[in-house]
Amino acid sequence: MKIMVAGASGLIGTQLTSDLRRSGHDVTAASLSLGVDTMTGKGLEAAMTGAEVVVDVTNAASFGDNSALGFFKASTKNLLAAAAQAGVRHYLALSVVGTPRLVESDYFRAKAVQENLIRASTRPYTILRSTQFYEFINGVIDIGAEGNLFRLPPASMRPVAAREVAAFLAELATEDPLGDIIEIGGPEQFGIDEIARIYLAANEDQRQVITDPFTPYFGVELTGDVLLPHVGARVARQNLSDWLYQSIAA
Ligand SMILES: NC(=O)c1ccc[n+]([C@@H]2O[C@H](COP(=O)([O-])OP(=O)(O)OC[C@H]3O[C@@H](n4cnc5c(N)ncnc54)[C@H](OP(=O)(O)O)[C@@H]3O)[C@@H](O)[C@H]2O)c1
Repeated sequence: MKIMVAGASGLIGTQLTSDLRRSGHDVTAASLSLGVDTMTGKGLEAAMTGAEVVVDVTNAASFGDNSALGFFKASTKNLLAAAAQAGVRHYLALSVVGTPRLVESDYFRAKAVQENLIRASTRPYTILRSTQFYEFINGVIDIGAEGNLFRLPPASMRPVAAREVAAFLAELATEDPLGDIIEIGGPEQFGIDEIARIYLAANEDQRQVITDPFTPYFGVELTGDVLLPHVGARVARQNLSDWLYQSIAA
C-alpha cells in the first residue's frame, strides 16, 4: 500500500515509517527537513502522488502565542486539500486524549481545530487520540519547574510508550477509515505529581516535588479526569518501570 507520512522525522513519525516499511508498504516520508512544508504546501503535491493513505503526525515547532493554532490550521488545511486532489482514501491523524476538555489551552485549542477540520472534510478519516507519551514526561514535569523544585497537580494520567502509539497507527493505516475518534492510553494510572517523583528518582535527580492542584497544565487548571481516556480505549502494554529501565539503560 502507498502511504504518505507527514511528520516522518518526528518521535512518532520515525517509528511509524519504519514499522510500515518493515510490513512491506511503500512509504513516502515527508517533513520540513525532508523538503515538504505542510504550513505553506511546498512539496505536498509531489509527496502525495499515488498515496492511498495519509498519516498526519506533524507537530508545531513552538507552542506559545497562538503559534500552534497557526500551525495546525494551515498545515491541516493544506494536507486535506492535497489529499483531496490526490484522491487519498484514508486520512489518519494523531491527536491528544482530553483535547475537547482542554480548549482553554492554546495548544489544545489548536488540536481541536485540527480535529474539526478533519471531521468536516470530505476525506474518509480516523483520528487517534493518545495520552501523554513516556518520552514527554519531562515536558509534563516542566510545567511546574520553579527553581530547584516542581509544583505539580495530582491530576491523573495514563502515560504510554510512543513506540506502542506508532505501532497502533501502523495498524490503523492499513485498515478501513473508521470515520470516528478512538483512543489509546497506557496500562497504569499516576498523578502528575506522583509520576514526577518516580521519574526524578529513576534519573537520580534530587529535586523536590510539591503537590499543588492549582499549577496549570499548559494553561488549564486540571479538574477531574480530563487527561484520562474513555472506557473502550486501546490499552498499551509497556508499563512505566519497564520503559524507565529501557530508556535509562539506553
Ligand atoms: N507528546 C505527547 O505526549 C503527545 C501525546 C498525544 C498526542 N501527541 C501528538 O502526536 C503528534 C506527533 O508528536 P511527536 O512528538 O512525534 O512530534 P515531533 O517529534 O515534534 O515531530 C514533529 C514532526 O512534525 C514535522 N513538522 C513540523 N513543522 C512542519 C512543517 N511546517 N512541515 C512539515 N513537517 C513539519 C517535523 O519535521 P522536521 O523534524 O523535519 O522539522 C517532525 O517530523 C503531535 O501532533 C502531538 O499533538 C503527542
